[in-house]
Amino acid sequence: MDHFEYRDGVLHAEDIPLPRIAAEIGTPVYVYSRATLERHAQVFADALKDIPRKHIAFAIKCNPNLGVLRVLARQGYGADVVSGGELERALASGMAPQDIVFSGVGKTRAELAQGLDRGIGQFNIEHEPEGVALAEIALAKDMTAPAVLRVNPDVDAGTHAKISTGKAENKFGVGIDAAPEIFGRLAALPGLQMRGVALHIGSQLTSLAPLEAAFERVGRLVADLRAAGHSITHVDLGGGLGVPYKPDDNPPSPAEYGAMVARVTKDWDVTLMFEPGRVIAGNTGVLLTEVLWVKPGATNPFVIVDAAMNDLARPALYDAYHDFVAVRPTGETMTASIVGPVCETGDTFARDRVIDKVGSGDLAAFRTAGAYGATMASTYNSRSLVPEVLVDGDRYIVVADRIAAGTIMAAERVPDWID
Ligand code: LLP
Repeated sequence: MDHFEYRDGVLHAEDIPLPRIAAEIGTPVYVYSRATLERHAQVFADALKDIPRKHIAFAIKCNPNLGVLRVLARQGYGADVVSGGELERALASGMAPQDIVFSGVGKTRAELAQGLDRGIGQFNIEHEPEGVALAEIALAKDMTAPAVLRVNPDVDAGTHAKISTGKAENKFGVGIDAAPEIFGRLAALPGLQMRGVALHIGSQLTSLAPLEAAFERVGRLVADLRAAGHSITHVDLGGGLGVPYKPDDNPPSPAEYGAMVARVTKDWDVTLMFEPGRVIAGNTGVLLTEVLWVKPGATNPFVIVDAAMNDLARPALYDAYHDFVAVRPTGETMTASIVGPVCETGDTFARDRVIDKVGSGDLAAFRTAGAYGATMASTYNSRSLVPEVLVDGDRYIVVADRIAAGTIMAAERVPDWID
């Protein structure tokens, strides 16, 4: 459920008609609904009500906007961060350091030190040398780093290859068979407090089966580690729950996910950690755009919108589907390809799709754009960086400015030794 609805034939974000935002802020622009964000945060937390000890860390890579993070901080969410930049954002949004988990396959020594200095709650170690480095840095600071070892359970998540992370051939974690030995060596290092394990097998999962298989493997690992004398108090189950992008998509609900987790982990006796991203933020945002032109094509026409692959990269990168709706639908439809102005054929949002009939000057919205939307934007083709707006009932605010192409150009210089 979300708070983007038609009222009197006009698409609204909560109580704000989208044409008002287009007129006042311009397009393209991301529009987020606070009520939707809060609802998703609550639904996910409620789904875990049968888990006695838990911590939810929003995977802020999917939407690191400070306004969005502040909303989630107030819901009691912590953050899963993957860079020093994300770490500072989580703190700036008001999240407590101990509620921050530092994931990421290529943390630098400087980032590990930054995490220690900031007093974050947990480091998710991706391989042995990283753990050794963290132990050294912590020891030099007379600190002990709380850490878990990320394992790769070798499970096919059944999602797009570019967002699968839990197969043996993926770069993430240590092989689950090698994990006991590596864990043992890391646990012996002063400077590290190895307290558990982590996994994350992929994103936009539309079935619980691969998650359940991976969790069962991790459950056996936890038992093995305990049998070897280790104290295991935390297991980080990652994120990955899919969301509906098409009207007839039917991914597992947070409640079904929560029930499965409660069942599989009931005897684990640990604090469970969660890193949801898309399921919290996906449906909380739309990308509002204006139709520039409708151009005849060899078969169907091209609807050329003012948003492009630099603003919403998912269709170009993963052939992802985003619903496209007119802000003022007439009830008529057309079959068209939806494309942006960027000079690549890949700048295509949809091919030969039946959509609301639109014409030049009409407003439209790409739905389910609150996760992995603005955060993956670029300025390719010297386009401006897309702005973000947060709606709250009958008010809204620009939570990220449009960064003009000229501002980006102003940060460049021509060497004076080129004459
Ligand atoms: N934890 C870890 C360690 C992750 O790598 C990720 C996502 C998450 C949690 C959150 O996963 P979620 O709940 O959002 O599925 N740009 C791609 C998605 C990349 C996901 C990367 N890792 C897309 O637009 O589909």
